[in-house]
Amino acid sequence: MKILLASRNAGKLREFSELLPEVRFIPWPADAPELPETGAFFQDNALQKAEGARAWWLAHGREPVDGVLADDSGLCVDALWGGPGVLSASFAPDLSTYRDKNRRLLAMVPDGADRAARFVCVLAYAPREGEAFTVSGAVEGSLAFDHRGDGGFGYDPVFIPDGYDHTFGELPPETKHTLSHRAMACAALRARLTRLPR
Ligand code: IMP
Repeated sequence: MKILLASRNAGKLREFSELLPEVRFIPWPADAPELPETGAFFQDNALQKAEGARAWWLAHGREPVDGVLADDSGLCVDALWGGPGVLSASFAPDLSTYRDKNRRLLAMVPDGADRAARFVCVLAYAPREGEAFTVSGAVEGSLAFDHRGDGGFGYDPVFIPDGYDHTFGELPPETKHTLSHRAMACAALRARLTRLPR
């Protein structure tokens, strides 16, 4: 199967290629416009990106694909009223590295506050023709006290999944792929894709 991934995020591309090895992913090309994500919910943004990317791809006569996949995801921290949540990608735009963004995020959580957090992922799949659908996944955990580990991407070094003592930045990718929000969503996506007419 050949799927256009409506994202240029290298971390997401790597994870999708590992989680769905039977799929050949084409990343969103550099000459294509940025895909707007203006919704208030992960699901709205995922659908907006998948449908926007499909329309652009078809209108520009690019190579045929079976469908378009978009991921809208983020880290939701209870002590921050669920933030940065849907705004995870645009959090702390004045800072250029995730090491600094993570440091700021940790500093925003008051001492003694509940550190419960979860990663959420909503995937929208738009087949070449027909209606798009969404699937989702989440992983519960807590915020670390420091940035720990250099694996993964984004907020991985400050998130400790429940049942573990290490952050996603410290755990090997194989472990993250048995637990993560994206892994759960990909399992649901695979089940839906196998039921689609070819
Ligand atoms: P968006 O889905 O393009 O809005 O961006 C999601 C943002 O959430 C990413 O840029 C990361 O900062 C963060 N994020 C989503 N999934 C993960 C993950 O698996 N690990 C670490 N950060 C993530």
